[in-house]
Amino acid sequence: MEKKNLDWENIGFVYRETDKRYVSHYKDGQWDEGALISDSNIVLNECAGIFQYCQEVFEGLKAYTTEDGSIVTFRPDQNAERMMNSAVGLEMPAFPKERFLDAVDQVVRANEAWVPPYGSGASLYIRPYMFASGSVIGVKPADEYQFRVLCTPVGPYFKGGAKPISICVSDFDRAAPRGTGHIKAGLNYAMSMHAGMEAHRKGFDENMFLDPGSRRYVEETGGANFLFVTKDGEVVTPKSDSILPSITRRSLIYVAEHYLGIKVTERPVELAELGDFTECGVCGTAAVVSPVGKVVDHGKEICFPSGMEKMGPVIQKLYDTLTGIQMGRIEAPEGWIRKIK
Ligand SMILES: Cc1ncc(COP(=O)(O)O)c(C=O)c1O
Repeated sequence: MEKKNLDWENIGFVYRETDKRYVSHYKDGQWDEGALISDSNIVLNECAGIFQYCQEVFEGLKAYTTEDGSIVTFRPDQNAERMMNSAVGLEMPAFPKERFLDAVDQVVRANEAWVPPYGSGASLYIRPYMFASGSVIGVKPADEYQFRVLCTPVGPYFKGGAKPISICVSDFDRAAPRGTGHIKAGLNYAMSMHAGMEAHRKGFDENMFLDPGSRRYVEETGGANFLFVTKDGEVVTPKSDSILPSITRRSLIYVAEHYLGIKVTERPVELAELGDFTECGVCGTAAVVSPVGKVVDHGKEICFPSGMEKMGPVIQKLYDTLTGIQMGRIEAPEGWIRKIK
């Protein structure tokens, strides 16, 4: 299989059309058998539920080449389960887990030429998504849906080393109390865009969203969960019902406890206690962990002792261990790595 001739280290995080994508249609109460197709365009009725009432959920995961040349995905079963849960939250039919896993495998195999080589730091980003394709005019769930999987190669998240980012405490809320914050639906991201652009216009990399009920506790950024490190070298991560349950966070917690012997506590984290922590990071599929150098709360700077130059030592250890597991340099827990080729 001849690889595409791309400058893998410099392809950035943009959409590049690849050869094949997967689609399955839901109609008359069931999913059809699904197929790989070449056409990257979707034709829908003007009154499709996705356009009118935003019934859409999605996932994000990566395929990459490991040290021994295999092509693998990382815990795709967790994405399958989270997507089923997201679908239930928007009254959409869940796409079965085994079929999700098979669809992702098919798309990766069919686009093998686009899977970046080991050592490039690049990967094949996979985007499973599902939306209401049936027409609706009254406010109700549609009765037809499409489940699709597309993929696009993306460059290394950190080029030239991981530089700590600066984050501002947002005046906006990302999610409503008892709303949809815990599910991965496009609607949550649509409403985080204005807040995100406001943060960028003020010179920050990301927002820190607070709990929408009391605005006293830390929730997450627009696309990643928080991790903090205490003076004793323990990890603390926010607990809240309106946070998206990050698969990376779950994996880092396991790595901390079982590989590194670090105690992890999941609990509500107050904005007022941030100054007590020595390190901060945000975690997600895109970067695994990005170090955070400072959080700014309306002019008040909270600077973490790890500074603005490099990752702190605990976050670095977590990052190195999890990326080592992903790349096949460190033995993975049972079931974490799905070998596709
Ligand atoms: C709002 C939000 N939080 C957290 C995450 C991190 O989740 P994961 O580690 O599963 O990528 C993401 C990215 O998917 C996200 O969009």
